[in-house]
This record gives sequence, C-alpha cells and structure tokens, in this order.
Amino acid sequence: MATNNKKLILAIETSCDETAAAVLEVVDDKKWPTIRTLSSVINSQVKLHSKFGGVVPEVAARAHVKNILPVVQKALAASRSTLAAISYIAVTQGPGLIPSLIVGVEFAKALSFATGKPLIPVNHMLGHLYSPFSQLNARRLPLDAKLFPMISLIVSGGHTMIVLMKNIKDYKVLGQTVDDAAGEAFDKVAKLLKLPYPGGPEVSKLAADGKPDFVFPRPMIHNKNYDFSFSGLKTAVLYHLRDFPKTKHADICKAFQDAAVDVLVTKTMRAAKEFKARSISLSGGVAANKSLREMFGLKTKDLRLNFFVPPQKLCTDNAEMIGIAAAFMLHNGIKPKNPLLVKADSNLEL
Ligand code: KG4
Ligand code: ZN
Repeated sequence: MATNNKKLILAIETSCDETAAAVLEVVDDKKWPTIRTLSSVINSQVKLHSKFGGVVPEVAARAHVKNILPVVQKALAASRSTLAAISYIAVTQGPGLIPSLIVGVEFAKALSFATGKPLIPVNHMLGHLYSPFSQLNARRLPLDAKLFPMISLIVSGGHTMIVLMKNIKDYKVLGQTVDDAAGEAFDKVAKLLKLPYPGGPEVSKLAADGKPDFVFPRPMIHNKNYDFSFSGLKTAVLYHLRDFPKTKHADICKAFQDAAVDVLVTKTMRAAKEFKARSISLSGGVAANKSLREMFGLKTKDLRLNFFVPPQKLCTDNAEMIGIAAAFMLHNGIKPKNPLLVKADSNLEL
C-alpha cells in the first residue's frame, strides 16, 4: 500500500450540544479512500441542558467555548499524533444552531490560519450521509461496484430526508419533513410523557415493554412524494393522553414508535423501488433506534438490497462523521477553502 498519499484529518463538530473532535487517517488510492479513525472525543452537554428540557443555544455556545480546546487536545493526544502532523482541518459549517456553529468554525479558521493547514468546511448533513460508508472499509466493497443507485434516509433531531445517491459524488434530496423532524417528534412525545431529555432513547427504551391495543396515524404514508410530516403524529399522542390518561406509557411509546418507523420504512422502500436502488443507507441520531434498524435490516434482506447503517456511536452527532465526509469530499475533488471566506451557516442546505 502506498503511504505517500496518507493524510491525517482533524475534524471538529459543534453544530448543537456536542463538542466533538476526531483524528482520521485516510489513504486514498483514487479508487478508494481507506479511512481509519485514530481518535474520536465527544463532550456531551446533555446534563447541562436537561434541566431546561432542550438545548438552550447560548448555554450551548458558552459550553463549546469552554470545551473546544481541551476536546481538540484530547483527540490529538488519543490519536498519538500532533497538530504538526495533521494534513487538513475539517469543521462543521452548518446547518445547526448558529451560536454553537460559530464557536467551531471560528476555532477551526484560527487554527487553519495559524498553522497554514488547509480548511475543509463540511455540511453536517453530508457527515450523516457519508457516515454509513465507514463500513465499506470493513466490508471491502469497492465504491464503483454495484452499490448505486443508493437511497439514503437521514433521520436526526433537526432533519428527516430521503436522498438519492447516483454515485459517491452525485446526490439529490428527494423529500424531507414539512414540519417536525423524526427525532424532534420522539423528543416531543418524551416531553408529553415527562421523560428526561433527550427523549428519543427514553421513548425507545419504554417501547420495548409496550403492547398497545391501539394504533396512531401514519401521516403522509400514502402520498406520492417523499416528504414527511410528524407533527400530526405528536398531536395524536397528545389527544390520546387527554382522552385515555390511564394508558400505560410503554404502550404509548410503542404505538408512537411503530407509526414513525412504519412511515420511515415504507417511504424509503418506495423510493428504492422507484429509483431501482441497489443499496439503502440509514443515518442520523434516530438511526440509533433499535426497532428502526431492525425493520430496515429485515426489509432490505427481503428485497436483496445492500444495507449500510453506521454503529450507534456514529449515528448521533460526532466529529468522526465530519472527518469521513471530508475524506470523501477530497476523494470527490472538492478543494479546501480560504479560511477568511468561511462562515458558519445555520441554514446550509444539502
Ligand atoms: O443526529 P443527532 O445527534 O443530532 C442532530 O443532528 O439533530 O440526532 C439527535 C436526535 C434526537 O432527537 C434524539 O432524541 C434522537 O436523535 N435519538 C433517538 C435515539 N437516539 C437518539 N431517537 C429514537 N431512538 C433512539 N434510540
Ligand atoms: Zn446531526
């Protein structure tokens, strides 16, 4: 293996309430970027925000300011490399909470300016989109093999989108949520049930013991497009609690999760059929949900499609996925940007 094309990427992520840094080693022989994660450090602010029941942007930004330097130092030390050995600095540019994004972006710009290391601004959603490709290395699947077209479902706290990937470079959003994101719906249902923040994992845990004898609606499941809507489902939960206050919370969680999973799986599989997909990928914080992962596993097996889903630690926000996206951006010929021209962008689109 040629080692002269070996690069080290220092990746930084601060789009919401996780201060994260990672160091990745990438060997790109033009056909194939082989990525090895040398370190990945996540400083979660969950405890800080849990008393507010959600992320408070200014509190998050202040915590990022306090944590960013120690987190980056820790990632460098754990990788057994030094700042001098780093080839590129990658940072999440958006979308996300602007006070949070600014901390990471300005830190990375200053670091790039001071060290002369090239800066790669990364779309956070591209981080989620490319995160399942971390498995390609392990499975030794060449990128140009029969993996494409691929349909990717990205489900997080801020987004729910179906993306068509014609190849590793060429992607197009087919549809997204018109109101709440899937993770947001999990979090809102958790709030209705007075479960701790973040709600997704709590709802999922309770759902494991649920045996509901009722169902919740599946919004937009039969619509021809690939858009989603989750606010009506959350309202259905609200009305159910009002009308049947004695219902077991486990049953509510299970009925809600079944409805959300059904909509996500049905629409993704329909897109796979329409676009003659050979593979399906699943990513974003909600992809950590066991029931969603299992249902995707079963359906893709039935349809004989390749299925890629990252390990759970790569589903929720982290810097490793930002480094993975940067490696693929470089592979795809995207050039680093002048740090003076890079700005955090809370509404950055895919
Ligand atoms: O990707 P992510 O960490 O942040 C954003 O980019 O938004 O996603 C966070 C979302 C939260 O809404 C959280 O409740 C949800 O992912 N989540 C889950 C699970 N773990 C995290 N939702 C359902 N089941 C889970 N196990
Ligand atoms: Zn995310």
